[in-house]
Amino acid sequence: MAILPIIHYPDERLHTHAKPVAAVDDAIRRLISDMAETMYAAPGIGLAATQVDVHQRVIVIDISENRDQLLALVNPVIFKAEGRAEREEGCLSVPGIYEPVIRAARISVNFLNGEGKEVTLDAEGLLGVCIQHEMDHLEGKVFVEYLSRLKQTRIKQKLKKRLRETM
Ligand code: NI
Repeated sequence: MAILPIIHYPDERLHTHAKPVAAVDDAIRRLISDMAETMYAAPGIGLAATQVDVHQRVIVIDISENRDQLLALVNPVIFKAEGRAEREEGCLSVPGIYEPVIRAARISVNFLNGEGKEVTLDAEGLLGVCIQHEMDHLEGKVFVEYLSRLKQTRIKQKLKKRLRETM
């Protein structure tokens, strides 16, 4: 296992469209375990492969308090979305920024798990938001892009300033 470097907004690589995984093989299982280790170390509750500069459709999530309920989603597809709900979001690629985003309140998603088995999951609340947020990453979208242009500009300036200060 290895901790992978996380790309930070506004890095252009975060706008890459991820490709479907052809088969859940040993390489994908290694990617899942490296992504899980990276997410737990950060610490975060979700990570998309895009954020570690791997452009395949793989997501890891763990919203449990004890950090022992790892969910790996390969090639996820949302086939049902209902209602609207607003929730404050953050992102390991946009450190220190938390902003409310409106998303579907309930979703149904199909995916392959780490064993390559097809799974259907109904999700709402934090899990539903987390899945939608991570799936956006696979499309090259970062959550701050739901905010106003002005807010996006301010966030970019803040992150660039912080980057300069840490160098
Ligand atoms: Ni994110």
